[in-house]
Amino acid sequence: MKFFLDTANIEQIRNGVHLGLVDGVTTNPTLVSKEEAVFEERIVEICQVVRGPVSAEVVATDFETMLSQARSLASLNEHVVVKIPMTVDGMRVVNVLSSEGVKTNVTLVFSALQALLAAKAGASYVSPFVGRLDDVGNDGMQLVQEIIEIFSNYGFATEVIVASVRHPMHVLQAALMGADVATIPYDVLLKLFNHPLTDSGLKRFMSDWQMYERKQQQ
Ligand code: G3P
Repeated sequence: MKFFLDTANIEQIRNGVHLGLVDGVTTNPTLVSKEEAVFEERIVEICQVVRGPVSAEVVATDFETMLSQARSLASLNEHVVVKIPMTVDGMRVVNVLSSEGVKTNVTLVFSALQALLAAKAGASYVSPFVGRLDDVGNDGMQLVQEIIEIFSNYGFATEVIVASVRHPMHVLQAALMGADVATIPYDVLLKLFNHPLTDSGLKRFMSDWQMYERKQQQ
């Protein structure tokens, strides 16, 4: 299972890469808007740190402009994956980019049929937003299960990125379902390390070792 970091923050990305756990990065206009950096420059910077797929999103909704932005983003670095919204024009763009060998990540996926359309259009990745579905009383991870089943039924090569991850349970369920990727906010990545029994167990080992050393010195 691949871990992507869902952030445009270069410090978080550097820290995640140092942990040896980051296989790629996803950004979106909201995440980029939180940063001071120039968008294209930040994408190149991220590509130099990560050396894996880096999703950069188009910021238009019509076919011509999205296609032109997508080609320009793809030319920034070989690792760029162009994020395209799940719309009629968006899937036309994905179809063209797929024939040109440009990798795509179809974003804002909220139904299994949308994921099927994206796969048929030739998307490299689809991003079901599980947290946002949970927020409106739906079951985000149930959607992931359906997408995995459909892709497996027909042998689609499109990879499933579990996106809008809010907590470790999303990551655990994604792993149990065999999702290809979870794109994880940095704070959630750090939470994956934690267990209270690890903390108390380590404290006990340290204090028992101190007692043992004191006994040895007597
Ligand atoms: O990158 C897309 C997705 O992960 C956004 O998550 O938390 O804004 O719903 P969120």
